[in-house]
Amino acid sequence: MYETMLLTTKEAIEKRRSIRKFQSVPVPDEHITALLDAARLAPSGCNAQPWRFKVVRDNETKWKLVQAAYDQSFIAQAPVVLVCCADVDAYLKGTASGIQDLGQTGAIDDRIVKILLRRNSQMDIQMKTMSKEQLGTRMAFNVAIAVEHMVLRALDFGLGTCWVRLIEEQKVRELFGWDDNLYVVALLPVGYPDESPLPRKRLPVQELIINDRDKNTI
Ligand SMILES: Cc1cc2nc3c(=O)[nH]c(=O)nc-3n(C[C@H](O)[C@H](O)[C@H](O)COP(=O)(O)O)c2cc1C
Repeated sequence: MYETMLLTTKEAIEKRRSIRKFQSVPVPDEHITALLDAARLAPSGCNAQPWRFKVVRDNETKWKLVQAAYDQSFIAQAPVVLVCCADVDAYLKGTASGIQDLGQTGAIDDRIVKILLRRNSQMDIQMKTMSKEQLGTRMAFNVAIAVEHMVLRALDFGLGTCWVRLIEEQKVRELFGWDDNLYVVALLPVGYPDESPLPRKRLPVQELIINDRDKNTI
C-alpha cells in the first residue's frame, strides 16, 4: 500500500504540504534511515555538517514534545518525531576539517582557504563572548537545509511532515538532558498523511524579484 514512488524534484516541491493529521500506521525504520541519509547529503558551510537528530517514537516523549511546542498536539499523532538540532562543537570541528578538505581537494583556492581559516578562528574567539545558544541560532540555517531535504525525500515514501519551529527550545533540551551544545532547530513529525491540504497561498514570482529602482526587468 505504501510503496516507494520516486518523484522528480519538481513534483516533490509541488506536491509537498505541511501535514498535521497522521494515520496511526507505523513508519518502517528503513524509511527513517532514508530520510536521515537525505539530511546527510545536504550542503553546509565549509561542509561542517552540524546537524544531529533524535528519533522519537515513544508516546510519553512525544507528548512532552507537545508541551514544549505550545501544545501543538498533532505532533504526538505522528508515529515518528525527528528532533532536529545543531551541534555547536561539531560545527566548529567540522568547519576546521571541512576547510582543510576543500582546500586539499582543490574545490576552493588557497586565498579563500585563508579567508575561511581567519573567519573560523574569529568564531573560536566569539565562542568566548557569545553563548552557545547564540552560535546555535547562527548555524541553524545549515540544519534547515538538511531538514528540508528530509521533508522532500519523505514524499517518495508517501510520508507527510510538518516543520515545527514554534517550540520552547530550552524545554526540549531539558527533556533529553542535553546541555547548550545542542541547539534545537525544529521538530519534524513524520507519518502517513490523514489529510490532503490544498496548496497554501504563495506570492507570484514577480513579487519576489527585487528590481533596480529604475528598471522593471529580471
Ligand atoms: C521554519 C518553519 C517553522 C514552522 N513552524 C510551524 C509550527 O510550529 N507549527 C505548524 O503547525 N506549522 C509550522 N510551519 C508550517 C507553516 O505553517 C507552513 O509551511 C506554511 O503555512 C505553508 O504551508 P505548506 O507548508 O502546506 O505549503 C513552519 C514552517 C517553517 C518553514
